[in-house]
Amino acid sequence: YTFDKIRNFSIIAHVDHGKSTLADRLLEITGTIDKNEKSKNKQVLDRLEVERKRGITVKAQTASMFYKNDYLLNLIDTPGHIDFTYEVSRSLKACQGCLLVVDAAQGVQAQTIANFFLAFEAGIKVIPVINKIDLKTANVEATIEQLTQTLDLKKEEMLFISAKNGINCEQVLDEIVNRIPSPIVNYDKPFKSLVFDSVYDLRRGAIIYIACVDGEIKKGDKVKSFFTKKVYEVQEVGLARPDFRPSNKIQAGQVGYMICNIRNIKEALVGDTFHLDKAKIEPFPGFKSPKPMVFSGFFPEDSQNFSLLRKSIEKLCINDSSVSIAEDSSPALGQGYRLGFLGLLHMEVFKERLEKEFSQSVIITAPNVPYKVKFSNQKLVKFHGTNELVIVNPTLWPEVHNFDETLEPVVSGTIVCPNDNFREVNQLCLSRRGVFESRQEISGDRVILKYKLPLNEIILDFFDKLKKETSGYASFDYEDIFYELSDLVKLVICLNDIEIEELTQIVHRQRAGAISRVLVEKLRDEIPQKQFKIAIQAKIGGKILARENIKAMRKDVTAKCYGGDQTRKLKLLREQAEGKKRIRETAKIEISKDVLINILRKE
Ligand code: GTP
Repeated sequence: YTFDKIRNFSIIAHVDHGKSTLADRLLEITGTIDKNEKSKNKQVLDRLEVERKRGITVKAQTASMFYKNDYLLNLIDTPGHIDFTYEVSRSLKACQGCLLVVDAAQGVQAQTIANFFLAFEAGIKVIPVINKIDLKTANVEATIEQLTQTLDLKKEEMLFISAKNGINCEQVLDEIVNRIPSPIVNYDKPFKSLVFDSVYDLRRGAIIYIACVDGEIKKGDKVKSFFTKKVYEVQEVGLARPDFRPSNKIQAGQVGYMICNIRNIKEALVGDTFHLDKAKIEPFPGFKSPKPMVFSGFFPEDSQNFSLLRKSIEKLCINDSSVSIAEDSSPALGQGYRLGFLGLLHMEVFKERLEKEFSQSVIITAPNVPYKVKFSNQKLVKFHGTNELVIVNPTLWPEVHNFDETLEPVVSGTIVCPNDNFREVNQLCLSRRGVFESRQEISGDRVILKYKLPLNEIILDFFDKLKKETSGYASFDYEDIFYELSDLVKLVICLNDIEIEELTQIVHRQRAGAISRVLVEKLRDEIPQKQFKIAIQAKIGGKILARENIKAMRKDVTAKCYGGDQTRKLKLLREQAEGKKRIRETAKIEISKDVLINILRKE
């Protein structure tokens, strides 16, 4: 296939609007997968069971299909969740066009808008596809209007389909051919390709998906990663249909896979440029290695199981280049890890896979985002070799006199919700330190709201709350993580003056009081009484923000004194009080694991 017969495209959509169903239909129509023989494709689906259940597709399913004997259509599937925005935008760069699928019953949602702008920024052709027109609840007119109002798309451009019933799906293929330009390529230049996805195979190492732009690549060639500068010998190249079919070569314009004995998935990063070794090339612009934004401690529920947990985590990370790993330990929880994820959902999926695929029960500490501290003290600058530090573990927060400024990650959030819910949604965002930016009313009595929100405030339960306030009608997405100055403090929880490291967190000064009270009260309810008094305190610096006491258990020391010997009773009570005082002064209470687990669960 010469390049003018090739089309590279993606399908982008809000969760559940029908991306996978449409992909399946296109693969069937082109005879790439057999309608009656779904099991062929089953492996791919099985691998993604966890992700699918949560309505996301983490790993791309890429497939090349032949259409009408004339055309080679390459479907480059993108991951479908906000945690993976960066990967979406990279895979879009491997395409010249995309299908923007919108559910006719649900209309434009937050991810519809976010994904559209990713495509717009990538400068690729967008074909709007209104799906699920078979549904009784479909409101095609309102959906058309919303797309016109919000994304400036024209009615004439829109396709109306039912991916489920196959209505107008063949037309989709025709429009891909008609409207999406063929890739711009150069056969004569040395091999250059964009990595848009990678998976790990235990036997063969990383299998990287590439879009070849210049030259060609075949078995035995030497390729180099622009990012890592490492050189590899190509062992196999081929097409994904969607299973791997080896071929002699991959040429400029084609999309395919390459295996070259890469044994670490972090050497096969999405967005990197792989090119012919020793050739002088311009890399694809804007490459960033994935930046974890949500960090948590992972500990085995039974500390005996640490080495098992280690093995399981290592195995899972083999396939996920975006998780960052560091060893960690905690007085109550023993040895464990501090892991970094792209977002909270990414973390949840990881945890679920640990449990389901490796039968590991883990305790996870409260998640936090990476903060930055800046300093001008020349001694410190010299010592650290930089004037700012990224802090991912709250217990490592420096002493106040050691920095001048603190910064936190902030995102631009988009919310689409019914007009009637504006008040509640606005209130929720403001209570999360959000800054209102804009409000646009669209057809179907809905509004698009924009807020600047601190990432820390949305990683936990923001989405659940949003859904609750709007009876499930709101959708949310965010983009553009940037750092802003913020008045951050380290909140420490102490039991009889001993810090419980597992509960240390970085919070905004405004929120410190409220968070302190909640934590202190929870601890009061969870910690069992002891022979001595327990003082629970929440502190910033040396200052106490909240405190609770757990009274000492009162043992009836006079029980054995029959009769009326008052002096003896009094003496015993006095001795008991003194004894208690002594214990109180020395007693260091260690928080038990069960208490900690309950507190962390409630958090
Ligand atoms: P993720 O990959 O999980 O992000 O979702 P998706 O966008 O791929 O959606 P998916 O294809 O899984 O479809 C979501 C649901 O909508 C499924 O239950 C489909 O059967 C259903 N669905 C998809 N297309 C249609 C359609 O044209 N009509 C009707 N009635 N249902 C559809």
